[in-house]
Amino acid sequence: MAMTLAEPKVKVDRAWQMYIDGKFVDGGSVRELINPADGKVLCKVQEGTAEHAKKAIDAARKAFDEGPWRTTSASDRAAMLFKIADKIDENAEELATLETMNGGKPLREARYDMADAAQCFRYYAGLATKPSGQTVEVPAPSVTSIVREPIGVCGQIIPWNFPMLMAAWKLAPALAAGNTCVMKPSEYTPLSVIRLAELLHEVGLPEGVVNIVLGAGPTVGLPIAESTKVDKIAFTGSVKTGKVIAQAALTNLKKVTLELGGKSPMVVFSDFDVDIAVDYALFGIYCNAGQVCSAGSRIVVDEKIHDEFVKKMAERAKKIQVGPGLDADTEMGPLVSEAQYNRVLEYIEVGKKEGAKLLCGGTRAEGKNLEGGYYVAPTIFSNTKPEMRIVQEEIFGPVVVIQKFSDEKEAIALANDSQFGLAGAVFTNDITRANRVVKAIRAGITWVNGYHSTFNECPWGGYKQSGWGRELGTFGLDAYTEVKQININLEPVAVEWFKN
Ligand code: NAI
Ligand code: MG
Repeated sequence: MAMTLAEPKVKVDRAWQMYIDGKFVDGGSVRELINPADGKVLCKVQEGTAEHAKKAIDAARKAFDEGPWRTTSASDRAAMLFKIADKIDENAEELATLETMNGGKPLREARYDMADAAQCFRYYAGLATKPSGQTVEVPAPSVTSIVREPIGVCGQIIPWNFPMLMAAWKLAPALAAGNTCVMKPSEYTPLSVIRLAELLHEVGLPEGVVNIVLGAGPTVGLPIAESTKVDKIAFTGSVKTGKVIAQAALTNLKKVTLELGGKSPMVVFSDFDVDIAVDYALFGIYCNAGQVCSAGSRIVVDEKIHDEFVKKMAERAKKIQVGPGLDADTEMGPLVSEAQYNRVLEYIEVGKKEGAKLLCGGTRAEGKNLEGGYYVAPTIFSNTKPEMRIVQEEIFGPVVVIQKFSDEKEAIALANDSQFGLAGAVFTNDITRANRVVKAIRAGITWVNGYHSTFNECPWGGYKQSGWGRELGTFGLDAYTEVKQININLEPVAVEWFKN
């Protein structure tokens, strides 16, 4: 197979700055970003301090309290969001290439993310102008209307696995509702988000409405979560950091939404076509090299088809083309960073020590063009026990564990034996069984006979330790609004509660 690397059409050797109060600014320190495909320095990015977070918060505060954004009409905000969506589409190839160069994901996945991000802005542009309040019939002489208003300044801390998409999921509903934002992308993958800030600037978003601060979590993220001038914090990332954010938000009891990790089960019954189930299982775990919050990282399979299933899955996993994301032949890219690469390889060692059976992978991926990059071979463990760490903990890499069941009751018990509850799936042709099992799965996102399909129109978020609240859909807009009831007294005569 030809392994010709596409010439990147995007120049990364340029200034990459923060965006505060409508200006692109330096932060005083510089981080070298590493290209995960070869371990070499990709470019340099400006990073700031708590002082920059404070400036960004002040700018967002001013833009909310004094600026026009929150009082613009919903249709004007919608028009702005439509423009942003068009800009993303116009620049999609550049943005996708940046995403691949920075985070490592195959270009075909990055292209998909860009289309999805544009669509997210369009969805919330449409929703901005739709009816959102209610009137309630209360005893006369009152009438009551219920309206939704923006929360205020929103802190938004996002991870490295879907930088552009996570930025869209957070900015689009926040802006549609009339909030202002301070966003901190991951220190590993800020490039597409900085480029997005440049596009926001080009379309004329008023200054201070969106601010982007750059740097490590404890340095510039925590001050946002702690600030009493921030009204809401939205976070996507690990459970551990999510708990830090929730604690920090207590300073002023800011509103909190958290989208955290998972260990999502795919339950496969014996009546379902094994080859199709294997196909979804591969997609469920190896897409974005397993660095997906909703990854199908546990396969709970009927003992009647277990051996056939694992044999077929291992055969196909071994054939996955691992390589640099810019290579047109690549099906699975590197992990995002050396830290994540080491973390995943450590989990593989844990799995071996725990006594699980390694069916394939378990090492660094071998092949052409892989030198220096953070490549892990697609890995499958069978013969697992529910209490094993590799079954309970989020690995966030191309590693899947197989669990075996003998009846539906056991399948459900295994599926729900988790601290997480983000996603889950059931594969069966039996419609009543499908309904029973999918309802029994304790998770916020579930699929029947499919995996990973995600719609801007539908709520996203988890049960249990997978988080608080929901993003996307009308729920995602609600999460960026306060609810106000307005009572109007139609007979303002003296109430005479006190006689004198
Ligand atoms: P992380 O949760 O620490 O990082 C996510 C974001 O939080 C980044 O922007 C980071 O700079 C920021 N952050 C980190 N510490 C912070 C703090 N003290 N205050 C404020 N912001 C902070 O995730 P990390 O360490 O990069 O990855 C570790 C594991 O987390 C992964 O192996 C995976 O299991 C999980 N993870 C889950 C994600 C998801 O989409 N659910 C995304 C990224 C990681
Ligand atoms: Mg961390």
